[in-house]
Amino acid sequence: VGEALARALEVSFVDLDNRIAEISGIPISELFEAEGESGFRAREKNALEEIVKSPPGVVALGGGALLAPANHALANEAGTVICLTAAPETLYHRVQAADDTRPLIQKNDLTGFNQLLNHRNAHYQSFPRQIATDELTPPEVAWEIQLHLGQYHVRGMGIGYDILVTEGSIPQVGDYLRSHSFGGAIGLVSDERVFEKIGPIVEQSLAEADYLFGSTRFPAGEESKNIATLERVWESLLGLELERRSTLLALGGGVVSDIAGFAAATYMRGINWVSLPTSLLAMVDASIGGKTGVDLPQGKNLVGAFHPPRLVLIDPDVLSELPVAEFKSGLAEVVKHGVIGDPVLFELCASGIADIQREISVVVRRAVGVKVKVITADPYEQGLRASLNLGHTIGHAVESASEYRLRHGEAVAIGLVSETRLSEAIGMARSGLSDRIAQTLHGVGLPTEIPSDLDPARIIHRMMFDKKKVRGKPRFALPIEVGKVQVNIELDDRGERCLFDLVGVSKGTGA
Ligand SMILES: NC(=O)c1ccc[n+]([C@@H]2O[C@H](COP(=O)([O-])OP(=O)(O)OC[C@H]3O[C@@H](n4cnc5c(N)ncnc54)[C@H](O)[C@@H]3O)[C@@H](O)[C@H]2O)c1
Repeated sequence: VGEALARALEVSFVDLDNRIAEISGIPISELFEAEGESGFRAREKNALEEIVKSPPGVVALGGGALLAPANHALANEAGTVICLTAAPETLYHRVQAADDTRPLIQKNDLTGFNQLLNHRNAHYQSFPRQIATDELTPPEVAWEIQLHLGQYHVRGMGIGYDILVTEGSIPQVGDYLRSHSFGGAIGLVSDERVFEKIGPIVEQSLAEADYLFGSTRFPAGEESKNIATLERVWESLLGLELERRSTLLALGGGVVSDIAGFAAATYMRGINWVSLPTSLLAMVDASIGGKTGVDLPQGKNLVGAFHPPRLVLIDPDVLSELPVAEFKSGLAEVVKHGVIGDPVLFELCASGIADIQREISVVVRRAVGVKVKVITADPYEQGLRASLNLGHTIGHAVESASEYRLRHGEAVAIGLVSETRLSEAIGMARSGLSDRIAQTLHGVGLPTEIPSDLDPARIIHRMMFDKKKVRGKPRFALPIEVGKVQVNIELDDRGERCLFDLVGVSKGTGA
């Protein structure tokens, strides 16, 4: 598990037992024979003391390594301790199946095994962070740890980058930038509304970390996501005398990350940028994946670049400032991520808005996890990444037909339900799935039906002109069940009839 976790996060790894054997030049079993448990524990303490002087990313500790209070304190100070647990039967089975022998457990000695476990039970229970490992493979356990910690490393699009979901991180952003080795001056880009609430906190942290920095901001809202704003940002960056090795800091919702990311992609032919998403939508979606860009009068997101940030720092605490309507709008994407790849997240969303708010850090970590998995598998949208478009083919058309009276999240919620109904109608999803999804969305205060005052013909027309369509026909990502989506679905005649019925127009009416 330690190795798998270190590989996923691209950090170094040390196994404490291996290190003890390495330092002493004697295998652990022989050490036990020669020096007994007390001799081994003394060497273990020394090895741990050496390791924490410059801790690697991940250390695998032996099951008894933290029994000594001094070791426990040392480990807690150096990092975060995760206790991996399993049912006694699972543990016993693992010991029996293992190739190697363990000095304190004999094979086929259930009584001795239970005695040792009972003896250590209170100690193991005392760790606040526990991950159950029964029935999981080591990489799956490593992923559970990542979800628990909110730590991810995204690769596949040039240099990899870390995503950290950590409460209270924004007031310490300067320290995070230093620890991730960002040098040079910083240009802080934000919108006026976010800057007013959070900008000074970020500036103070940058000053405390001895950064040279300057700020620029533009009016909040989608109306700002255009070339004119981009030009003003470029000019501000010039005014701040940012150069190639400078870093741009994007503080705000998806509009800020799209504009600032595109400014970073193009300024001086590309500089580093760090994303500090402040809206729920930006945290779980817009700030991750490297898509940046602006709108044109002809449509949304028509000009842009793939230019991933070098770090994404997500502080769920700032969501307390986000207007409720924006929060709910972001929840549509969270529910979507649950449907795409995380039944646990979906169930959490199904428990209603109060539970979601109480568990918001877990919700953000899991929703981020789904996006990270998808974009890692398919960074440039050759296949699986299209699953993130779930709910968006009908959603975009409804949003646009409403002349943007509906918020993006509201339109996505409607799209999610409509597309699931389509999936049921063409026999891909089992019936009942759309009701379940509708119930969940309804429970968080999102609409699920296409408003009756929208012209169905117009919705169909907009769908046919979706920029993501291939060869003139929209391609759908459709759910099969919660946690499973199929991409790249082109409707046949029957499917199209189902779609037209769903939207409320009969095929052949000239839509
Ligand atoms: N690049 C991508 O992969 C991607 C993915 C999804 C969406 N997007 C884009 O994201 C944009 C939508 O993002 P959004 O919903 O975050 O919109 P937004 O950036 O306009 O933010 C919504 C509103 O919330 C305010 N706000 C944000 N954080 C706040 C906070 N913590 N406290 C108080 N107010 C806060 C903003 O000022 C704004 O008024 C769209 O332009 C969309 O195209 C991009």
